[in-house]
Parts: sequence; C-alpha cells; structure tokens
Amino acid sequence: MRIGILGAGGMADALGTQWAGAGHEVMVSGRDQGRSAARAALMATQAGGEVRAGSFAEAASFGDVVVVAVREAGLLDTLRAAGAALRGKAIVDVTNGDPKEFDLTRSLARLIADVTGGHVVKAFNLCHVDVWRMTPPVFGGRPLAVPLCGDDPEALAAVRTLVADLGCTPVHGGGVERAVLLEATAAFVIGLWFGGADAQAILPPLASSGDHQPA
Ligand SMILES: NC(=O)c1ccc[n+]([C@@H]2O[C@H](COP(=O)([O-])OP(=O)(O)OC[C@H]3O[C@@H](n4cnc5c(N)ncnc54)[C@H](OP(=O)(O)O)[C@@H]3O)[C@@H](O)[C@H]2O)c1
Repeated sequence: MRIGILGAGGMADALGTQWAGAGHEVMVSGRDQGRSAARAALMATQAGGEVRAGSFAEAASFGDVVVVAVREAGLLDTLRAAGAALRGKAIVDVTNGDPKEFDLTRSLARLIADVTGGHVVKAFNLCHVDVWRMTPPVFGGRPLAVPLCGDDPEALAAVRTLVADLGCTPVHGGGVERAVLLEATAAFVIGLWFGGADAQAILPPLASSGDHQPA
C-alpha cells in the first residue's frame, strides 16, 4: 500500500523503513524539505525499497494510509498543512503528549479525528522507537502485541496488515474513544521506565487474569 507519513523524525524513520522493506511505497514529510529528503534517501538505502519525501500536504494525498508521527507541539500546524486530503482517510496515530502534562480529558487521537475527519486508528504509541527498529520485536519468545483503537473496519484492517509486516501481533483495543486509554498507558509506563521499573512485569499472564469469557 501507499503510506504517507506526517513526520520525518525517529518514528517515521523506524516504522517507514520497515514498511518500505516489506514492499510498501512510503513518503515522509517534515517542515524542512531538505532534511526530509535526506531522511528518505537513508531509509530507501536501508530498506532496499521505495521512500520519497514531500510536503505534509503531499504525504497526506499520497497515502492510502497516513501516519501521524509528529511532536504534540507541532500537531495542529501539521494537520492544517496536510489539509483536506485527510478527510475520510485511514489515519494511524502514533503520537504521545508530554507524560508529565497528561490530561485524561484530552485525547490526541480524538483531536486528530475531529480536525481531519479521517478514520483514526491509535497504534504504535506504547513502545520506544528502538523497538520499532527490531526485526522482529520478539521478547521472551513472544512477538510483541500491538493494541489498536479505532472504529472503521477498513482502516483497522490496513493497520493490522502494517502491524503484521513488523512481525508483531495486532490486538483489538476497542473504538477510537478508548484511544485515550492507550495514551494514558503510555504516560504511565513511561513514568515507570523513567523510575527504573520494569513496566512489563506489572501484568500477569492471561492464565492468571481471572475467569474471563471472550466477549
Ligand atoms: N520516540 C519514541 O520513542 C516514540 C515512541 C512512541 C510514540 N512517539 C510519538 O511519536 C511522535 C513522533 O516522535 P519522534 O520520536 O519521531 O519525534 P522526532 O524524532 O522529534 O520527530 C518529530 C517530527 O515532528 C515534526 N514536527 C512538526 N512540527 C513540529 C514542532 N513544532 N516541534 C517539533 N517537531 C515538529 C518534525 O518535523 P521536522 O522533520 O521538520 O523537524 C519531525 O518530523 C511523537 O508524538 C511522540 O510522542 C515517540
């Protein structure tokens, strides 16, 4: 598929390189065209695939799926620059805000959906960028599970494919209204990691999580 990425930083690089290596056409975008073009050239070499650079509007038009991978400080300006091409599109939101200023009443995924009119799926926000460079991310023999929060079946199907292309397992996390819980989870575990705790150790395996029937 064609993947337009709003951003040309670490997350754009890590995810975009993997997807270009898996055979997708990728376009990254940033505020500085020269910097984005240099990033795209490095990614293409590393992936042995096709990576272009463009403006935010060009990446938004290019993608069958558009990934939002910018800092919160630049989010609204970036979405405005991306423009009307995002309306009705599958949008993957990987963003996190500053964990110290986390506010449960304010969801970045909800904001992106409201501003763009796109079909937002929140994903990839729970792990450090270096995890998304792993081929594949497997820990203790288990492939990494990636929760997805979104409503649109086609957008969710596209993002499930992108998760599988990384060697990860997609997990349905509910609708976009639950994306704020993924944002809260990121803020919480980042706090644990900064304190030196092993956040992975706070949850028991499924067999010890009570007697649940699948919904
Ligand atoms: N890094 C991680 O481990 C990680 C993990 C999960 C989620 N995330 C989230 O993913 C998003 C991207 O993170 P990243 O690590 O890729 O960041 P990054 O390397 O700093 O790249 C940030 C990107 O945002 C763009 N941007 C647009 N307006 C901006 C502004 N006003 N201030 C700063 N940057 C602006 C930058 O454009 P230019 O190219 O023009 O500089 C750049 O392409 C963030 O929301 C972050 O919270 C990051």
